[in-house]
Amino acid sequence: MPLVAGVDTSTQSCKIVVRDAETGALVRTGSAKHPDGTEVDPRHWWDAFQEAASAAGGLADVAALSVGGQQHGMVTLDADGNVVRPALLWNDTRSAPSAEALITELGDGDPSTGSGQRRTAGAQAWADAVGSVLVASLTVTKLRWLHDNEPENAARVAAVALPHDWLSWRIAGYGPAGDPTAPLGPQLDKLFTDRSDASGTGYYDAAVDEYRPDLLERALGRTDVVLPRVVGVAEAGAVAHPSIAGSDVDGGALIGPGAGDNAGASLGLGMTPGDIAISIGTSGVVSAVAPKRTADGSGAINGFADATGNALMLAVTLNAARVLDAAREVLDVDFDELANLALQAPPGSDGLVLVPYLEGERTPNRPDATGTLHGIRLATSTRAHLARAYIEGMLCGLADGLDALRAQGVSVERVMLIGGAAQSPAVQQIAPQVFGLPIGIPEPGEYVADGAARQAAWTLAAASAEGSADDVAAPAWSTTIATTLAADPKPVVREQYAAVRDLV
Ligand code: XUL
Repeated sequence: MPLVAGVDTSTQSCKIVVRDAETGALVRTGSAKHPDGTEVDPRHWWDAFQEAASAAGGLADVAALSVGGQQHGMVTLDADGNVVRPALLWNDTRSAPSAEALITELGDGDPSTGSGQRRTAGAQAWADAVGSVLVASLTVTKLRWLHDNEPENAARVAAVALPHDWLSWRIAGYGPAGDPTAPLGPQLDKLFTDRSDASGTGYYDAAVDEYRPDLLERALGRTDVVLPRVVGVAEAGAVAHPSIAGSDVDGGALIGPGAGDNAGASLGLGMTPGDIAISIGTSGVVSAVAPKRTADGSGAINGFADATGNALMLAVTLNAARVLDAAREVLDVDFDELANLALQAPPGSDGLVLVPYLEGERTPNRPDATGTLHGIRLATSTRAHLARAYIEGMLCGLADGLDALRAQGVSVERVMLIGGAAQSPAVQQIAPQVFGLPIGIPEPGEYVADGAARQAAWTLAAASAEGSADDVAAPAWSTTIATTLAADPKPVVREQYAAVRDLV
């Protein structure tokens, strides 16, 4: 009974699950917190990984592991394997002007065209080239920001990695010269990644599985940096250093390709084309697995890759679980009381509408927006109306993302709602009204870490297969849908939301 581990190096914490490679049964778990902030020294991720591994009883007995992680974060390394500066994370918006500059420049073929036309042409050109119109989250915009604002740091960059690539490299034993926890030293050419995370950089085209050095050069002004090797869907990128994992296992622990967190969750949920996952976490993510990415020049949909060889189409909002946190703060209530209050007001909150762009917004692309509360009257000046307006507004933002996926021709057959907030009775009652669809709520779980564990089991099976590794399918671990909610469309909620959103 070989064991495998799945790691989720997320924005908030490092989570590890150890599972039985054959059945998927959960054996042990561990976790440790990451610091807050949108700029983080990766050293903290390494410390949290070690703490989580020891909380999980150590990883000496695992035969393979994989790392899923927050997408897009810019980890820059110098020639000695040191981080050049703290990583800028996906939710750091300082590079929004850099994104705009890169977009306009790529649309700048004909200088006689107006700036609006150049922006439209540039947006479409980026979508065609890498599947996404640039927003501040994407790594390439952070590199441009570095080039323009910290030229000395930019000049020291010898390699650019993402959070999951960097952690996998550290687990293999590489790292800064002279660091006792990195016995193999700073071998930058040993960095590896997978196509799902590479597809979120802005300089990798998952339609043809190739880096685009020309786009990297537009941002950083040069191409002489190491980019992680992109490995196959079930290919081991390295073997873990025995001081870190696998010392009790013959041949050591294989390190699977890893994945961006959204692709990891989609693997953990066992999503196939037709499935939609709506995740209410720090970011709100509406994702769909599709056979091929599209190129949405409007920027609503990111055409990333999944972890199985398909495309992962994604609409991301910056205002999800934190909108509910803000509502709890305003109303001075806990999670349960917020739900009780919200359910005392009618659908549509009698016209009280919250457009929840509390942290700017990414879909639609309004990095400098603030939220709007509209329709306050004496009758709607109650705690219940306010609670409901916050929840409806947050869900309407996600429903806009679902519409954008539909507009790209993505088929919607099954919707799964995940994330801590999916357990709220108010969210469970209001979501079928806002989305107008039946919704399944899987058992609560660490879907990203679970997806990484499933990928590790897949890597193990592929490595021991006779014949071609490409013929080995991902292990058939099951996902249990704990609750199924019937569709209950209440069109007024979205109609009044759309009217206020478009006023702003
Ligand atoms: C996806 C995105 C977020 C992060 C969160 O494009 O920016 O979902 O991956 O970790």
